[in-house]
Amino acid sequence: MTTKATRAVGVDIGGTGIKGALVDLEAGELLSDRVKVATPVGAEPADVLAAVRQVLDTLGVTDRHDVPLGVAFPAIVKHGRTLSAANVADTWIGFEAEKFFEDGLGREIHFANDADVAGIAEVQFGAAHGVDGLTILTTLGTGIGTALLYNGVLIPNAELGHLQRAEKKKDFEGVAAYSAMERESLSWPEWAGRLQAYYDHLEFLFSPDLFVVGGGVSKHADEFLPLLKLNTPIVPARHRNNAGIIGAAALALQDAH
Ligand code: BGC
Repeated sequence: MTTKATRAVGVDIGGTGIKGALVDLEAGELLSDRVKVATPVGAEPADVLAAVRQVLDTLGVTDRHDVPLGVAFPAIVKHGRTLSAANVADTWIGFEAEKFFEDGLGREIHFANDADVAGIAEVQFGAAHGVDGLTILTTLGTGIGTALLYNGVLIPNAELGHLQRAEKKKDFEGVAAYSAMERESLSWPEWAGRLQAYYDHLEFLFSPDLFVVGGGVSKHADEFLPLLKLNTPIVPARHRNNAGIIGAAALALQDAH
């Protein structure tokens, strides 16, 4: 008798860090410690591949081809190709990224946008579970990632971090990502003012039913979410910054069946 696999590895490649863990997809929880390495400067494909291999080595799963592997990446991903590069090298634009990782790692992987997989994790195991209508998940990190989920179904590759502030012709990501707060040493209220403008705009455009906020800073949600005045409920991602790892693993397991 074979038992259905319930474990997979998730690797979440970000503009600043590459994180991975073994995930239990019955519980939607990490089974191992979370391993993190810095994203190599310049984030060229060969260097990112080496860093992903380092994460897998540390987890001791490099040769565990029986355990599905999901990899999340901070760019538009269509049919395994990366089509944009906001916080990584331009080499990724139009690049056969999934094949590159599969050849480099000598195994099959499942490859998707980082915010989209965080959305999948929050629908399956977190704040967006069972929510009717439109949930917009935003990840506030090096960039701003977004996932649109309608009645629990993902509409992939929404790039709403690149909406522009009309008066400045500048992406919201450039002024309202967590990296902008760090770079400009903003206070929580100063940063929240920028987030207010961003979420107001999203609310006007989409009339969502729920906002979910992920990314590393979501562990400090108490510092900034109460400062926002919106008509739409806004809550932190239940899995905080691990949502990408869990969602990448969930995608891999789902595709493996
Ligand atoms: C990218 C998105 C990504 C987000 C978060 C943005 O700059 O364009 O694809 O989801 O950063 O990493």
